[in-house]
Amino acid sequence: MSEARPHPLDVLRFYAENGVDIALDETAPNRLAEPAAVIEAPARDAPKPFGAPPASVRPQAIQRNITPPAAPEAAIRDAGQLAANASTLDELRVAIESFEGCALKATAMRTVFADGNPQARIMFVGEGPGAEEDREGLPFVGRSGKLLDRMIAAIGLDRKSAYIANIIPWRPPGNRTPTPQESAICLPFIRRQIELADPDILVCLGGPSATTLLELKEGITRTRGRWFEFDTGKRKIKAIALFHPAYLLRSPAHKKLAWQDLLAVKKALTQ
Ligand code: URA
Repeated sequence: MSEARPHPLDVLRFYAENGVDIALDETAPNRLAEPAAVIEAPARDAPKPFGAPPASVRPQAIQRNITPPAAPEAAIRDAGQLAANASTLDELRVAIESFEGCALKATAMRTVFADGNPQARIMFVGEGPGAEEDREGLPFVGRSGKLLDRMIAAIGLDRKSAYIANIIPWRPPGNRTPTPQESAICLPFIRRQIELADPDILVCLGGPSATTLLELKEGITRTRGRWFEFDTGKRKIKAIALFHPAYLLRSPAHKKLAWQDLLAVKKALTQ
């Protein structure tokens, strides 16, 4: 008796729930198989970025000519130069959209730059876009974004009185944590974004944002709720790390601590 095969939609749902939500190739390679005896070097005149799906399976939005990502040091240098040359947030957005030095851009549908009010006194910086953010091109619009909205509403703020961005402007495939290299490449952009927005208070959402921007060695459970100094390049401002809303969705017991931290943020805003 042959076993009933699962419905293709159930298979897709199973993949999506496990973070597999983008096709990188038309056939599934067996990565555990013995390597072929001879691996041909890629043709020199047709370089392909590492990890980029073939054009036929890439989303419409990214079916364009993609130059291979530069070596990390060169990519960091290029990002730094582009960021420094941008004298407004609009110029910075254009510069980021033109940057080809981060491989994450090849698998993302949209560049997610910012939302909210760039004139706000407070700026929230998360880790990187998820699936919803990638689709809409705006940060924190998915489930964790809804919680972030409720968190900032609790201290009397909304997207008209807060500015919101991410360390990484492109969605890492399957929502994986960005690698330190990807964060290092994108760091000049978010640093310049903070400098140009010039908030009084910087709130890092989650460990990766805090460790990248505040150069902290300890984890978020130790660093959350503590005040740090952040040098924007223009001046020194107050910075604090909070639990990431996605973490709070998974660990609601920690909402109490996040609430205490939000009250500290509210107090700092009145000073
Ligand atoms: N998580 C983040 O860190 N940023 C987003 O924009 C969405 C989810």
